[in-house]
Amino acid sequence: MNVRIGVIGYGYWGPNIVRNLVGLEGCEVVAVCDRNPKALAKVQRTYPAIRVTTEAAEVITDPGIDAVAIITPVWTHYELAKAALEQGKHVFVEKPFTSTSAQAEELIELAARKNLRIMVDHTFLFTGAVRKIRELVDAGTLGPLLYFDSSRVNLGLFQHDVSVIWDLAPHDLAIMDHVIGKEPEAVVATGSTHFGQHTDIAFVTIYFPDNVIAHINVNWLSPVKVRTTMIGGRDKMLVWNDVEVDEKIKIYDKGVTVTNAEGVYNLLVSYRSGDVWSPKVPQTEALTAELSYFLDCIRGGATPFNDGEAGLRIVKMLEATSVSLKKRGELVYL
Ligand SMILES: NC(=O)c1ccc[n+]([C@@H]2O[C@H](COP(=O)([O-])OP(=O)(O)OC[C@H]3O[C@@H](n4cnc5c(N)ncnc54)[C@H](O)[C@@H]3O)[C@@H](O)[C@H]2O)c1
Repeated sequence: MNVRIGVIGYGYWGPNIVRNLVGLEGCEVVAVCDRNPKALAKVQRTYPAIRVTTEAAEVITDPGIDAVAIITPVWTHYELAKAALEQGKHVFVEKPFTSTSAQAEELIELAARKNLRIMVDHTFLFTGAVRKIRELVDAGTLGPLLYFDSSRVNLGLFQHDVSVIWDLAPHDLAIMDHVIGKEPEAVVATGSTHFGQHTDIAFVTIYFPDNVIAHINVNWLSPVKVRTTMIGGRDKMLVWNDVEVDEKIKIYDKGVTVTNAEGVYNLLVSYRSGDVWSPKVPQTEALTAELSYFLDCIRGGATPFNDGEAGLRIVKMLEATSVSLKKRGELVYL
């Protein structure tokens, strides 16, 4: 089945979605919509066969379209996704899924009632690195997880409509959610606003059962770009440096063994320092894999793992960070 898609939003990220969809077999990009005529002129230059419009309703109500990709700012996601689902279209929607968890819940319910798919663009879950990390965690290579610690910092790009947490942390939260696979218990967020209205640097801590802890550092005011995630397990520890071209992931056979010597009540701590190795990480573009999976889910009727529920889990965490941040780091239960 040829899946016919309409794309709404052709700003910074939209062109990546259109380029990937156009390259996929069994997919036709029927129309691209953007409120900004300059964006549409770019579409026309690159893809003369694609219809363009400034009216989202034209895409949403088109009976010749099976699915709508929503690549607009977060505050528009709910209205556009709701209208598309009501018109019987499957929906691919950018991260973060919605501005509130109530909106996400409503969309999930609507899609279920109409037997339609929602996929939330948690792009990183489709990178070779995250796939490899998940494989290693599932195989028990790291042993039981202890912590997840991620830094996503650079200079800019300041957003006018959202804080650095709502802009950058959805990536780390989605990766964390996918890798840890447990329901978080509580969140603490601290941060500060130096320019404009929104928080531009933030530190988020997420508490999980069994003493698993996660920490995410997001910052638009960093002089250097850092994309590093450390995952500690009882048996091995992993460092993922996404800025590296080769050897993005390194696994350290390092750890701590604690013993109680006979008759001695003091803990005896010994440190293990073994080999370091770097697994091969597939280099294919994440969006190609993700959008191809979206088409498969539409054709086969399967529920994607990055569905509305996955989007909702991230929105709930983002909401909790907003509450905690306002109270300067108060613990907020989820
Ligand atoms: N998955 C990723 O890695 C990734 C990366 C960047 C951005 N994003 C997400 O993509 C979304 C868009 O971000 P961006 O950086 O491309 O923003 P942007 O502001 O550069 O582009 C948004 C475009 O949407 C258009 N638009 C807004 N409302 C519209 C409406 N109602 N109808 C038609 N067009 C409309 C605007 O004119 C603009 O061209 C955000 O949700 C963002 O979080 C995701």
